[in-house]
Amino acid sequence: MSDLTKATARHAELVREINHHSRLYYTQDAPQISDHDYDALMQELLTLEAEFPELLSPDSPSQRVGAEPLAEFSQITHELPMLSLSNGFEDSDIQEFDARLHKEIGLSENTVIEYVAEPKLDGLAVSILYVDGVLTHAATRGDGRVGEDITQNVKTIRSVPLKLPEGAPARLEVRGEVFMRLAGFDELNQAQAESGKKVFVNPRNAAAGSLRQLDSKITAGRPLDIFIYSTGVNSDSAFADTHSQTLEKLAALGFPVCPLLQVVNGVEACLQYYRDMGAKRARLDYEIDGIVYKVNRLDWQRAAGFIAKAPRWALAHKFPAQEKTTQVNDIDVQVGRTGAITPVARLEPVFVGGVTVSNVTLHNKAEIARLDIRVGDTVIVRRAGDVIPQIVGVNLEARPSSATPYDFPTHCPVCGSDVVTEGDGIIARCSGGLTCGAQVRQSIKHFVSRKAMDIDGMGDKIVDALVEQGLVSTVADLYVLTFEQVLALEGFAEKSAQNLIAAIEKSKLTEFARLLYALGIPQVGETTADQLAAHFGAMDALKSATQDALEALPDIGPVVAKNIVDFFHDASNLSVIAQLHDRGVTYEVVAAQKPEDVAQLPLAGEIIVLTGALSGMGRTEAKKRLQALGAKVTGSVSKNTTLVIAGADAGSKAAKAAELDVRIEDEDYLNQLLA
Ligand code: IVH
Repeated sequence: MSDLTKATARHAELVREINHHSRLYYTQDAPQISDHDYDALMQELLTLEAEFPELLSPDSPSQRVGAEPLAEFSQITHELPMLSLSNGFEDSDIQEFDARLHKEIGLSENTVIEYVAEPKLDGLAVSILYVDGVLTHAATRGDGRVGEDITQNVKTIRSVPLKLPEGAPARLEVRGEVFMRLAGFDELNQAQAESGKKVFVNPRNAAAGSLRQLDSKITAGRPLDIFIYSTGVNSDSAFADTHSQTLEKLAALGFPVCPLLQVVNGVEACLQYYRDMGAKRARLDYEIDGIVYKVNRLDWQRAAGFIAKAPRWALAHKFPAQEKTTQVNDIDVQVGRTGAITPVARLEPVFVGGVTVSNVTLHNKAEIARLDIRVGDTVIVRRAGDVIPQIVGVNLEARPSSATPYDFPTHCPVCGSDVVTEGDGIIARCSGGLTCGAQVRQSIKHFVSRKAMDIDGMGDKIVDALVEQGLVSTVADLYVLTFEQVLALEGFAEKSAQNLIAAIEKSKLTEFARLLYALGIPQVGETTADQLAAHFGAMDALKSATQDALEALPDIGPVVAKNIVDFFHDASNLSVIAQLHDRGVTYEVVAAQKPEDVAQLPLAGEIIVLTGALSGMGRTEAKKRLQALGAKVTGSVSKNTTLVIAGADAGSKAAKAAELDVRIEDEDYLNQLLA
């Protein structure tokens, strides 16, 4: 046997094996070999093709790694134009669409039209042509008539088949949406930031930027994915009778098809699907910006026909936009209860992601520098799911020439004390301590808040007034307020003053964990406060705890331990605690828990996150009951989380859990656990 014959045989074997494993990995999500073994097969293929260039075929998986950079994209004229979709926003738009279709197709009013409802993926449209089963061309949509030749780039997308199985139509064009999954997007942006490169504003831009690379080797390194949603040119005129059948056949040929699409009957079912997907949207690992309804029967599609640039038989039902542009009217800073200075952008109010946004945190100095955001700028505001709104980018082209870089204050805007920085200069803090009015006000607002001492009716405005009038300067002062003093405040009458005094009185008997949390020790949140309370049982024991004793607790690190020790060594803190005690603030002393007892409990070792709304009980109650069974209940999902209970409308936490492969269960499961 000649070398070439041997190489040809080995080449064919490698191609078969690599294709098989990529399908398992990228399309079926069920890999059977390690990444390392896969890379080894690919390396062997590349070496073989370098030695025997005649073996390199256009469908070789080696094409996935990218080709020589292009000087420019050449153009491809679409054999059939790539259309766009008409949009609808309100339920009534969909009802009108359905009614119109009945007339256009010539159906009686009571004929129910079957639709395929599918997510409208937020990426970019591509057309991919297979001739005799081999991927030969791929193009962007362009203006719908002429697009750009991105064949090399599309070949690097792992879920795109390079070769179709026997029996595929001789000429088959498929169309679909290239997109980037959120996890891949985050990773890409992190890598971009670390190497000082451009950070992408959203997954769609990242996908577009990655696909339109003249150097397809760059595309090959980007986590692109695709869902195919239709055919274009197809030599098999009897391919399918319905759209859903088309999609089934495409899936059988190895094309990735969105698993969430559904055949639905009539307009009400369309709207139900829209609502269901709207609720799921924040939990998906890719972005969708609406639902597309398509008439399922192809003969009815033909009967309905087209208007200008869109089919009459399809409609995009858009979700409320998650990104909008607006102007930055001002940038100022807020001083928190521990003195942390947080810059905030004051925006021209904008309706985005279902709410009106006028203030957006800019987090810290570094974030301002990263965005180079300036007063007068036009910015992109994003609010996805229940995530807090954020500014993701600045439109530099719209920047007024007068805009100057933001000067971070060197003095606290409230008390004038020096601003000091921590953590590599990222975190800025007012050095004024409790001489700073802002810190006093914030610490009191925290103290009275629902999860802390829960003083009903004590809103922010009342706290501001009490501090302003010199009635309260520490949290202990709340407990010497008199009825007359409250009555004299603006907006109070007899009854409301009585109620507030009663609420203050009521708060005196509390739980140790609440009191601890209320004190506002830096970085001691509810979870840590619960733990400290369970372990120490009472203030005196905690007060005298050493750094070592604190660090010995499972989730307390050196920084938090030091914060606690420092807090209880500060004379003014000790005097406030003593005053609270003298003025009647007390809690039931619970027996300090011994670690060995906790380990016996049925949910010991579980780290649970509750998210979304529960119908049967409040989250606080659920948390208490889980803790009583030995579970730890925390506020954010991490790789240590063992279980996420997702109630109704659960948002980003459930998404994070899905991303980290953390087990997610619903309220029924919670009830089983508690039972
Ligand atoms: S069908 C003639 N289905 O939306 C039908 N388009 O506004 C044309 N898109 O350019 C497309 N998801 O990029 C269709 N499930 C889906 C889609 C989808 C996203 C995009 C596509 C198209 C744009 C039209």
